[in-house]
Amino acid sequence: MSTNPTPPRRYRSQDWFDNPDHIDMTALYLERFMNYGITADELRAGRPIIGIVQSGSDISPCNRIHLELAKRVRDGIRDAGGIAMEFPLHPIFENCRRPTASIDRNLAYLGLVEILHGYPIDAVVLTTGCDKTTPAQIMAASTVDIPAIVLSGGPMLDGWFEGELAGSGTAIWHGRRRLAAGEIDNEKFLQIAAASAPSAGHCNTMGTASTMNALAEALGMSLTGCSAIPAPYRERGQMAYETGRRIVELARQDVRPSHILTRDAFLDAIVVNAAIGGSTNAQPHIMAMARHAGIEIESSAWMEFGHDVPLLLNMQPAGKFLGERFHRAGGVPAIMWELQQAGKLRAERLTVTGTTMAVNLRDRASVDREVIYPYDAPLKTKAGFFVLKGNLFDFAIMKTSVISDDFRARYLRRPGIENVFECRAVVFDGSGDYHARINDPALDIDEGCMLVIRGAGPIGWPGSAEVVNMQPPDALIRRGILNLPTLGDGRQSGTSDSPSILNASPESAAGGGLAWVRSGDIIRVDLNTGRCDMLVDDAVLAERKKEPVPPTPPSQTPWQELYRATVGQLEQGGCMEMALPYRGVGHDLP
Ligand code: FES
Repeated sequence: MSTNPTPPRRYRSQDWFDNPDHIDMTALYLERFMNYGITADELRAGRPIIGIVQSGSDISPCNRIHLELAKRVRDGIRDAGGIAMEFPLHPIFENCRRPTASIDRNLAYLGLVEILHGYPIDAVVLTTGCDKTTPAQIMAASTVDIPAIVLSGGPMLDGWFEGELAGSGTAIWHGRRRLAAGEIDNEKFLQIAAASAPSAGHCNTMGTASTMNALAEALGMSLTGCSAIPAPYRERGQMAYETGRRIVELARQDVRPSHILTRDAFLDAIVVNAAIGGSTNAQPHIMAMARHAGIEIESSAWMEFGHDVPLLLNMQPAGKFLGERFHRAGGVPAIMWELQQAGKLRAERLTVTGTTMAVNLRDRASVDREVIYPYDAPLKTKAGFFVLKGNLFDFAIMKTSVISDDFRARYLRRPGIENVFECRAVVFDGSGDYHARINDPALDIDEGCMLVIRGAGPIGWPGSAEVVNMQPPDALIRRGILNLPTLGDGRQSGTSDSPSILNASPESAAGGGLAWVRSGDIIRVDLNTGRCDMLVDDAVLAERKKEPVPPTPPSQTPWQELYRATVGQLEQGGCMEMALPYRGVGHDLP
């Protein structure tokens, strides 16, 4: 047992297991938990019951390491005086789920809220990994507001193919282009894909998984240095043990998500996201986590607090290296140390360590300047998301950290006009339409075109699929044109290096401007003013708006229908709007 000096307090689980006013019900609760060997004395000793949300399974391979890690979490919980109870999270596997795993962020959220509300859990370890598993669990922890801590599963080991680093996801996007260019055959493409994923763990690039785990740490929800430790490293198991010990203290002290997830924490997460070249999916997920925590973050915050932040991390897809080098260079604390020295953080705020982020970051300077650059000599300047609006949408973002020199030269740095370009729109109604027609010569796609996809937002293709990073036609790729400007109401993979304009809100299916654009329209993007418009007469637009919005496919399952009826737009996090008023429900016992 721990010798912790925190005075004992009454836990919510005691209302189940130690409730003299309802001894009949207490008997009922106790007898079935005892049938796997736990004793009544253990359950009635005033020890906190610690939930372990198990996100790993055979169909959640990115999180499968947690099946092992949970044993070390249990050891830590038991050594600190708690009692562990492990239960499953609805599985989320980004690459496999159709139409998109994103729809299940909200389903996993709902399921976890119900478990944490309805069962005798005093505090909880959130086991995160694959993209949406992190925001789903933090959203739920906020709604219930019982003590919670994040344990990342960690990235895979670095992938290598033919002597080159092969980053998961990013290697697929590069391989697809080489396949289209005729440089490799299908067999080699499969070999590259396998080589990019060499071990247990989540994506080893700074895709959405590494981003969201890094941001959970930046928010203060995990122990210092947790997110970047590769899954197979010994430190990962040690971190699991320490996380188990720590959650018992958080339970004793009743330190809840509402004490940690402040506005300052979310603004710091936006800053960190820019510095690591984080995924564009961070935008809806940060927004969703903030809204479920009751924190207002304006859409303009990405521009106001994030855009000027330089890229410090040299990691794919914005840079060169992968997860192992990032961890060895110092991980998230080393990035935050740079930002803290530059005065960019609001680090005097509580974290799950029991102290402030500022204290957590002491002596955490990077030990590898090839991987983590100094703030005043960064990899790129102004690396945060660019926020756009216009007559096509009220809100969309562009990931500036992945704009290549070639793309910049072709579109953004033309003689006499900087950061403004005009393109002929080629419009696709959903991903199926894109794949069916992209190589159709009749579309006459050239460097002056912008590929536009609609019907891919939260309602249109339920969940909002990662389809905006559309590849140019094979013929263009063979000529060396690897990226065209793209725009859409869907999302894109965090491992993509495409500088798309995405997350456009409101989406076409909700009557957003994308519904009224036609192939052949000229689209003007002005990064000086933050505008993106179709250059179409108001009278013509008014005529178009008399038509119905483009049709979208029917729901395939009951959950898709329920999701579509309750989901908001990506600008606001794609939350189930009806869920937002529920907060602190762990203190209103059933
Ligand atoms: Fe699961 Fe990348 S697909 S972490």
